[in-house]
Amino acid sequence: MSYHALESLGTPEILRVDKVSVTLSGRQILDDVSLAIQAGEFTGLIGPNGAGKTTLLRVILGLQRPTAGQVAILGQPRARRTQAIGYVPQKVLLDPDMPMRARDLVALGLDGHRYGIRLPANGRAAAVREMLHAVDADRFSDARVGDLSGGEQQRVLIAHALISRPRLLLLDEPLANLDLRSGQEVVALLARIAREQQIAVLLSAHEMNPLLPVMDRIVYLAGGRAASGATGEVVTTEVLTRLYGHRVDVLHVHGRVLVVAGPGPDGELPVPAEFGRHPAGGASGGNPLEAG
Ligand SMILES: Nc1ncnc2c1ncn2[C@@H]1O[C@H](COP(=O)(O)OP(=O)(O)OP(=O)(O)O)[C@@H](O)[C@H]1O
Ligand SMILES: [Mg+2]
Repeated sequence: MSYHALESLGTPEILRVDKVSVTLSGRQILDDVSLAIQAGEFTGLIGPNGAGKTTLLRVILGLQRPTAGQVAILGQPRARRTQAIGYVPQKVLLDPDMPMRARDLVALGLDGHRYGIRLPANGRAAAVREMLHAVDADRFSDARVGDLSGGEQQRVLIAHALISRPRLLLLDEPLANLDLRSGQEVVALLARIAREQQIAVLLSAHEMNPLLPVMDRIVYLAGGRAASGATGEVVTTEVLTRLYGHRVDVLHVHGRVLVVAGPGPDGELPVPAEFGRHPAGGASGGNPLEAG
């Protein structure tokens, strides 16, 4: 058996997106996007507003049919519904007046369990407690979800998505409403869960800096095209400058990596120019990096 075969036995491929294209209302949103994620890997899906991050996650979930290409989960063409995927959507509106405790919301994630077996009540309560503990949310397990802060709600939503023991966890901009510190905590928590439970995590964000300490792979999406690779290969001054279309510096400060964009030609901050696609649909230039 070859080394690669052995290696792939050790870290199974959880997700493969193969040459996916999506056209919505006559406009091409995703164009020939490919990527693969293995168990235990933390992948950042990075791109500006409207880049197609949510659309790509919806394709992976089976909520959006691609115009071309395929998605495979655990080596199988994806079924219409699968319990192998946990999802924390971009917009979750939690009514502050809803009389639901954090642990009730997490327990809802158990319904529709992949084996169709309902756990007995004490088993459910134990599973919920364990999951709230895993996301460091024990202390607000009895609080009403509407009373929790954004960062606390985010933890509860992650526990809700994890309790059915998915192999792949998709999170759509979970850091958008968090302050720097809560964001760092959530990122560290997800990285730990990915490694401990060998879950593949795919997390979308506008900015890569908060993810740099933990991100194994990066998928950079703009103008419908994706560039992906190991973080160390993509996050270099040369590659990012090419991707964004103007100067981007990758700095190593106090043992950490920091991405700093210089101003664009008109003094504005980064719009990845050569990926730019006008709202009317005219595509500009090709992908400066090979996809895949
Ligand atoms: N049903 C639809 N019909 C036409 N266009 C759509 C539809 N849904 C989304 N779009 C467009 O597809 C593009 C990509 O949207 P998407 O929500 O995937 O971007 P995103 O990267 O998640 O952006 P954000 O960072 O703002 O969340 C947007 O320009 C959006 O307007
Ligand atoms: Mg989105």
